[in-house]
Amino acid sequence: MFDFRRTHNCGALRLADVGEKVTLSGWIHRRRDLGKIIFLDLRDRFGLTQLVIDPSAALKVYENAQKLRQEWVVAIKGSVAKRKERHPTLPTGDIEILVEEIEILSEAKNPPFSIADERTEINEELRLKYRYLDFRKGEIVKNLLLRHKVMMATRSFLDREGLIEVTTPILCKSTPEGARDYLVPSRIYPGNFYALPQSPQIFKQLLMLGGLDRYFQIAPCFRDEDLRADRQPEFTQIDIELSFLTPKELFQLVEKLLHHVFQECLGITLPTPFPQMPHKEALESYGSDKPDLRFGMPLVRIDEIAKRSSFSPFQEILAKGGVVKALCVKKGSEVSRKNLEEYEKIVSPLGVEKLFSMKRGAEGFSTGVAKYFDETLLSEIERKLSVEIGDLILIAAEKEERVNQGLDHLRRYIGKERKLIDKNAWNFLWVQDFPLFSIDKTSGEIQSEHHPFTSPHFEDMHLLDTNPLKARAYAYDLVLNGYELASGSQRIHNGELQKKIFQLTRLQEEEITSRFGYFIEALRYGTPPHLGCALGFDRLLMLLCKTENIRDVIAFPKTQKASDLMMQSPSPVSNYQLKELHVQPTETCEIPWL
Ligand code: AMO
Repeated sequence: MFDFRRTHNCGALRLADVGEKVTLSGWIHRRRDLGKIIFLDLRDRFGLTQLVIDPSAALKVYENAQKLRQEWVVAIKGSVAKRKERHPTLPTGDIEILVEEIEILSEAKNPPFSIADERTEINEELRLKYRYLDFRKGEIVKNLLLRHKVMMATRSFLDREGLIEVTTPILCKSTPEGARDYLVPSRIYPGNFYALPQSPQIFKQLLMLGGLDRYFQIAPCFRDEDLRADRQPEFTQIDIELSFLTPKELFQLVEKLLHHVFQECLGITLPTPFPQMPHKEALESYGSDKPDLRFGMPLVRIDEIAKRSSFSPFQEILAKGGVVKALCVKKGSEVSRKNLEEYEKIVSPLGVEKLFSMKRGAEGFSTGVAKYFDETLLSEIERKLSVEIGDLILIAAEKEERVNQGLDHLRRYIGKERKLIDKNAWNFLWVQDFPLFSIDKTSGEIQSEHHPFTSPHFEDMHLLDTNPLKARAYAYDLVLNGYELASGSQRIHNGELQKKIFQLTRLQEEEITSRFGYFIEALRYGTPPHLGCALGFDRLLMLLCKTENIRDVIAFPKTQKASDLMMQSPSPVSNYQLKELHVQPTETCEIPWL
């Protein structure tokens, strides 16, 4: 029998190997049949090697080579020869293999898209349906290799730092992280359900209660929430929890971890420590709690100046408690009317109907709302926004939240449009002191901004009874290039305070007991002060691979509609299974792929 164990992979052979007898195996990438001579490119994940079947080859070899088609799997034996004409970009471009034997290991159907064609863009749905063929194109595999490296670097670093990896359950009880749970019906207890963990939050806190002291886990998490380009229903976190430390030490650990990962996996030396910014300042200066600091153009509040202008819409909005904020687009004064209309289209869906502007020419400010401001006010604007000749000022006046959202989107849009963003920059930022609570837009109820296990700021404890929405939390996010990369907090380590926080989020006594009674009870048995955070592992990879699509860094991702096009899930199950699980659907829907 043909021994198809390879001596080399398809990316390995060089000039120094000329004359060697080798065995290679892989997929037929391309085939050029020139009649007397056949050229084949053989591919595996390591590279491509050119094979040559010339008239000196045995008839059987020649006949086999004629049969071969794209994506057939073969093993060949032959000798390495110097190529007459070197391939300039291929690492194996100096050599080719003169084939002496061919073994066809498996034939292949014609693939639904060409693996070899690098130019044609393939629809993502087709790529997801045939994910295994998409792997063969190389891009996703390159990302998965980096993912593997980052995972190994993370594990070994955290191990060296004395953190213990503990696997926590997948079948558990609801963990409140603000999204809907995925539920699993229990066969043994009719009408009862497990929840898949939105994160291992409660388990990791219980590990601290148990004295484990330093924990980490590369943890699978599940959230049934509306998907976006940087979200998946199942994703992975680098989850960390530590006892008897302060946020300062946690920040140092995370910075050291990222420094190590960037050095080890990309050869990049990150400057540390990362800068820090209070949440309030992030909103004030960038309109966002995850500002992209790769470029400037901060938002500047000009309430006081606008109030003294003769432009009545500004005064009306200010009188209603709104704000007036501006941003200065450097050398933006050449923008056309059409550009300004485009900008307005960015802010209007976010509640800012009108965008006001003025331009700074050599003679002073002109156009737009400039005429409503006298010289003193204009020079105040000039100073506050560091305006220079040729700049454009864009102004939004509305409720604060709308202005922040609108100008945040606009700032990022203009940053991209005017190519202000350095694609090779890594701008980390710790955003701290988030508010403890916020108001849920749909229910109007008070809710935890991070999660209910987050400790209120000690200085703000008194606000819990008087004005809880004003209380700050010991919560922090790590932002990278405008993405929320990690999130964490100092935890409540007192059962009574924990109960109070649940009560403030309007949970009924019964619900507190049934959902979290065991946890409040646990906190009463001697709880160490503890804190932690979780880094979005897929999000980190997405940024490292410089893609804006989280699916590119996950082997088998779900679509934007939470489906798996390859396995075709979710899917109906048999009546027998439903009966066993005591589940009866009240509604069913047509699934597009069935
Ligand atoms: P949080 O909910 O902020 O915090 O999640 C932590 C990080 O996980 C990533 N992330 C996601 N990535 C992909 N798809 C999603 N659907 C998704 N949701 C979140 C983000 C985010 O910053 N238990 C707390 C952490 C803690 O307090 O220790 C938690 O899960 O990068």
